[in-house]
Amino acid sequence: MVTVDLEGKIAIVTGGANGIGKAASIKLAKAGAQVVVCDINYEGAEAVAEEIRKTGGNGRAVKTDVSNEDDVNALVNQTLSEFNHIDILVNNAGVSRAIKFIDTDLAQFEKFLNVNVRGVFLCCQAVLPHMIRQNHGKIVNVSSIAGREADEFFVVYSATKFAVIGLTQGLAKEMAEYNINVNAVCPGIVRTELWENLLRQLKTSNEYQNLDNEQIWDQFMTTIPMRRSQEPEDIANAIVFLSSDLAKNITGQALNICGGLRPR
Ligand SMILES: NC(=O)c1ccc[n+]([C@@H]2O[C@H](COP(=O)([O-])OP(=O)(O)OC[C@H]3O[C@@H](n4cnc5c(N)ncnc54)[C@H](O)[C@@H]3O)[C@@H](O)[C@H]2O)c1
Repeated sequence: MVTVDLEGKIAIVTGGANGIGKAASIKLAKAGAQVVVCDINYEGAEAVAEEIRKTGGNGRAVKTDVSNEDDVNALVNQTLSEFNHIDILVNNAGVSRAIKFIDTDLAQFEKFLNVNVRGVFLCCQAVLPHMIRQNHGKIVNVSSIAGREADEFFVVYSATKFAVIGLTQGLAKEMAEYNINVNAVCPGIVRTELWENLLRQLKTSNEYQNLDNEQIWDQFMTTIPMRRSQEPEDIANAIVFLSSDLAKNITGQALNICGGLRPR
C-alpha cells in the first residue's frame, strides 16, 4: 500500500475557505499535516479549520488577503511563531471572471493580477527564506488549463495563469539547490463558487443569452474528452501528492487535471 505521510509537516493553504483550497486543506490534514487555512474570508477559513480539528487534525485559520504584503508577512510570522517551520505552501487563492477583453477595465485587470500573480509572488517571497534555511520545502501553485491555452472571455485571467506557470518553472530551477520543489497544478472545470459565478456572467453575454446555466454548463462538459467535470478532491489529490516526498524528484512541472481537455 502506498500512503502519503505528511505527519509533522506544516502547510499553508491560501484561499482555503472554499472549493479547491478547502479540499486541499482537508486532504493535507488527513495525510497528517498541520494546516494553516488562510483566506480573505475568515469565517470560511475558520469553518474549514474547525472541520479539520473535529476529525482529530490540527487546523488554524488566519485572515489574509494574499495581495497585501503586510497580511502575508503577518501570516508567515504567525505560522512560524506557532509551529517554528513551514514545509508546504499551496498558492491556491485566485479570482476569475468571464469577461471580454474589450470590457476589461484597468481596475479589473489589476484585480486579476493582484490576487493571481502578486499573491503568489508575495507568499513565495515570505516563505522561501525559511524553506531555504531549513533546506527543504514544497510549493504547489494553482494555475489553470487557462494557463495552457487562452480562450475568449478569459483573456486576462489566462495571462495571469500563464504567469503562474512561468513563476513555477523559473523558481523551481532557482530553488532546486535548496531541496525545494516548486510545481503547479492546472485544474480543468470544477463546479465551485467560482464556476457558479462564471455561469451567471456568461449568461449575460450575447453568445449564451438563450441558454440557462445548466445548458451553458453542459456545453462546457461536451468539450471534455472524459465528459465529466473535475471535483475539488481531484485537484486536492494532486496537491497532496506534489506536497509529499513521493514527488521529491518532480519540480518545475505543471500538471493538468482536466479529463483530457488539454493534452499539454
Ligand atoms: N474552479 C475551477 O474550475 C478552476 C479551474 C482552474 C483553476 N482554478 C483555480 O483554482 C483556485 C481556486 O479556485 P476555486 O474554484 O476553488 O475558487 P473559489 O472561488 O471557490 O475559492 C477561492 C477562494 O479564494 C479566496 N480568495 C479570493 N481572493 C483572495 C485574496 N485576495 N486573498 C485570500 N483569499 C482569497 C476566496 O475567498 C475563496 O475562498 C483559483 O486559483 C482558480 O483560479 C479553478
